[in-house]
Amino acid sequence: MTGPESEGSQVRRAVCPGSFDPITNGHLDIIARASRLYDEVYVAVMVNQSKKGLFEVDERIELIRQVTADYANVVVESHHGLLVDFCKQRDIPAIVKGLRAVSDFDYELQMAQMNNGLSGVETLFVPTNPTYSFLSSSLVKEVAAWGGDVSHLVPPAVLEALDKRLRKD
Ligand code: PNS
Repeated sequence: MTGPESEGSQVRRAVCPGSFDPITNGHLDIIARASRLYDEVYVAVMVNQSKKGLFEVDERIELIRQVTADYANVVVESHHGLLVDFCKQRDIPAIVKGLRAVSDFDYELQMAQMNNGLSGVETLFVPTNPTYSFLSSSLVKEVAAWGGDVSHLVPPAVLEALDKRLRKD
């Protein structure tokens, strides 16, 4: 027998974790590509209480939901704690991360090895689209805060939210 009923058939799940403060076109590109490779993709907004963001976690989730609305297999959730626990609770065997440059690799490798050692979860690295190789949420916030144009770096909903937040709600 073939198809979903066949023995051993499984939903293939992956997670794209991050702070997403806020989501950028670079993140969105990785999420879109993961959504074509897996049956279900969780976007996990990891809560770091020692790091105050520009956006509250609920606002980040809402923005990600809006900009991923076209991807039927993408689920957005937050998590307070270890990423491996998020994965265990949802039976997710794979973490998908974008790699922008060699400078990302050192820390990403450490996290991948730590996560694998903790729980066996695998990390798959996707090379970032070169258009976004310089892009980070921090740079977007800095440029936007000084009035620079970030309209080509974030989805329209995020641009609007940044504009509101930086010019005070
Ligand atoms: O967008 P970021 O801030 O670069 O994402 C980093 C993040 C949130 C994915 C990473 O710090 C993380 O997984 N944090 C959750 C806590 C955890 O599991 N720490 C151990 C990592 S080996």
